[in-house]
Amino acid sequence: MSITIDQIPDLVSQLTLEEKASLCSGGDAWHLQSIERLGIDGYMVTDGPHGLRKVNSAGIIDLYNSVPATCFPTAAGLASTWDTELVGEVGVALGEETRSESVAMLLGPGINMKRSPLCGRNFEYFAEDPVVAGELASALVRGIQSQGVGTSLKHFAANNQETDRLRVSAEVDERTLREIYLPAFEKVVKTAKPWTIMCSYNAINGTYSSQNHWLLTEVLRDEWGYDGLVVSDWGAVVDRVKGVLAGLDLEMPGDAPRNDARIAEAVRSGELDESVLDTTVTRVLTLLAKAGPAMDNPGSYDVDAHHALARRAAAGAAVLLKNDDQVLPLTSGEQVAVIGKFARTPRYQGAGSSKVNPTRLDTALDSLREAWGADLPFAPGFNLAGDADPDLVAEAVEAARGRTAVLFLGLPDIAESEGYDRTHTDMPANQIELLRAVREVAAHTVVVLSNGSSIGVAEWDDQADAILECWLGGQASGSGVADVLTGAVNPSGHLAETIALRLSDVPAQLNFPGELQHVHYGEGRYIGYRGLDATEREVAYPFGHGLSYTTFEYSTLGVEARPISESTNQDDPVVTLTFTVTNTGDRAGAAVPQVYVGFPDSTVDRCVRELRAFRRIELAPGQSEQVSIELTRRDLSYWDVILHDWAVEPGRVVVEVGASSRDLPLNAKVDIEAPRVLHPLRRDSTVAEWMEQDEEFAAKVRSAAKKVGFSADMEDDPTTASFLLTMPVYKVLQLAPVMSPEELDEMLGE
Ligand code: BGC
Repeated sequence: MSITIDQIPDLVSQLTLEEKASLCSGGDAWHLQSIERLGIDGYMVTDGPHGLRKVNSAGIIDLYNSVPATCFPTAAGLASTWDTELVGEVGVALGEETRSESVAMLLGPGINMKRSPLCGRNFEYFAEDPVVAGELASALVRGIQSQGVGTSLKHFAANNQETDRLRVSAEVDERTLREIYLPAFEKVVKTAKPWTIMCSYNAINGTYSSQNHWLLTEVLRDEWGYDGLVVSDWGAVVDRVKGVLAGLDLEMPGDAPRNDARIAEAVRSGELDESVLDTTVTRVLTLLAKAGPAMDNPGSYDVDAHHALARRAAAGAAVLLKNDDQVLPLTSGEQVAVIGKFARTPRYQGAGSSKVNPTRLDTALDSLREAWGADLPFAPGFNLAGDADPDLVAEAVEAARGRTAVLFLGLPDIAESEGYDRTHTDMPANQIELLRAVREVAAHTVVVLSNGSSIGVAEWDDQADAILECWLGGQASGSGVADVLTGAVNPSGHLAETIALRLSDVPAQLNFPGELQHVHYGEGRYIGYRGLDATEREVAYPFGHGLSYTTFEYSTLGVEARPISESTNQDDPVVTLTFTVTNTGDRAGAAVPQVYVGFPDSTVDRCVRELRAFRRIELAPGQSEQVSIELTRRDLSYWDVILHDWAVEPGRVVVEVGASSRDLPLNAKVDIEAPRVLHPLRRDSTVAEWMEQDEEFAAKVRSAAKKVGFSADMEDDPTTASFLLTMPVYKVLQLAPVMSPEELDEMLGE
């Protein structure tokens, strides 16, 4: 029988110091600690995130020996659906499987930002934008937890590369952390309440996440109101006692007797107050109590239904990048040839701790043959080693001659993985060579891509009439993708990461992956489209892009703003947008309208545009829908590094609406009424800053300026005025004696 929440205070009072300390780490690599004499059962936790990886052994490194489970598309694919409902359904299914295997918590999702396309683990992450990642991960977490089991939102925080991941320090400025790297976590924490958060391996600005009080307590608990448990990534603990003090509750993998002993010793020596340990233990027991009912009644799940859902998710994840002359969908009776190894041997998931043992595996070749006839020609065309193979190419050319060649290309397993980063984004040369050869003889070429993170397309884009980016689509990627190719499903996926023309266009590349245990996030907030828009780079396919077999029109944008006052809360709506989306084609389909904001007159640096909201709406041919979206005070705010808080400025906001970050047919400007952002006046505030907030002081400066020979009217002489106005006020007497020392003291004293 499981423990209940009500029993926890009593249990804590019965635990010895050693028992309490032992609960701060697991019982083995995948279980929490049990204490039999008190009936505390240390349940199992497992990876995650897009399928259950319940290992059959207690070892940590045994990555590939786990019970069968449904492998859904990885996060890169789930994010490309921009479909919170579908992702929520996937969550429910993951929760059912977790529960039915008597596992208390799934270790995921991972929501780190895609700072660079090179991060080896991007396939496990959602997006280069916190709004997309935050919304979709919230849906997933809610779905999983609806089944009475927990999630572990990871890797908190700034774990944006695999290189040196166990010790690298991510050097990130405060505003960038707040506006780019933390908001997706904040969103999920506040709206979906994950039972646990997994801290990252890396350090942030010199302090390991596993012992970072600012991160784990001040931001996570004090500011965001988080009341769940913080678990270490497997092996992320450096100094266990510092970790407890910082807010790290559970060390994994377990069986950490030395660290448990250190905790007990720290309590005895007074270094650690026992009440802090009690709080930690209470959180561990709360997790067990929450999972108790599900563990007492695990239930079962419908393997076929989950596979069918995985197929829908794979189809939903596919992004139609290009479709010249509407070569897709394939039309019935069309002469088609299937080329490329991945049609028969799908690349459908990534390597590392997320690797699932699938319940079954569909191939695109089988599914297309089901739809098109068993005699549909196929040729593998290339080998995974990347070597040129003229025989394979010749065979493919013969198969494709005169037909619509559907080429299944992408990255081999080895190209991207947990544990290391890529060094380039190129497609293997032997596959490009194959495409060129097939192009010569085929009637049309359709490229279907399988890869975990964006790959360069510029070198071969002109060789393809259509490109369908399918990411790592899970165990039903073969059938799901076939559904899109045949038109059974109208694609509605959109890019959650930009496909740059060249890797060197990506601003983060100047500082990726760092060196000598440091990585400096020198590009600041300018990751992904934010940077590429600022530097006005052309891109291959922009963030948010995705075609459909139908067409959509955006019209009649209306924007209404309400004044913002001191009492307006962060979540209060302050701008209402309405616009209409119409399906102007002859097929049913789903549009994904996106809302971006920009602040051209801001006094602080702002990105050209930033996504603030999106919707996914299904429309029948000819159907229109009016969409209404509210933007909150927070949506208009920036992180002010003097106030250490969100600040909203009065002035102009540009709102853009459309189908991608570079296809924004609707735009409107709206003036926001809000109090000016005022910073506290200090000795080193400038004369201008003082004048702005203190009229009496302003008058004194003006008259004194006249006396000492500054021009009569400062506005008429901006050069001279700038000398005075930009001066920190404590330097006034030294450099421009516009007042007496007594007057200055009096002013500063106030
Ligand atoms: C990974 C985590 C994973 C854990 C347990 C770590 O190496 O970073 O994402 O949940 O192992 O397998």
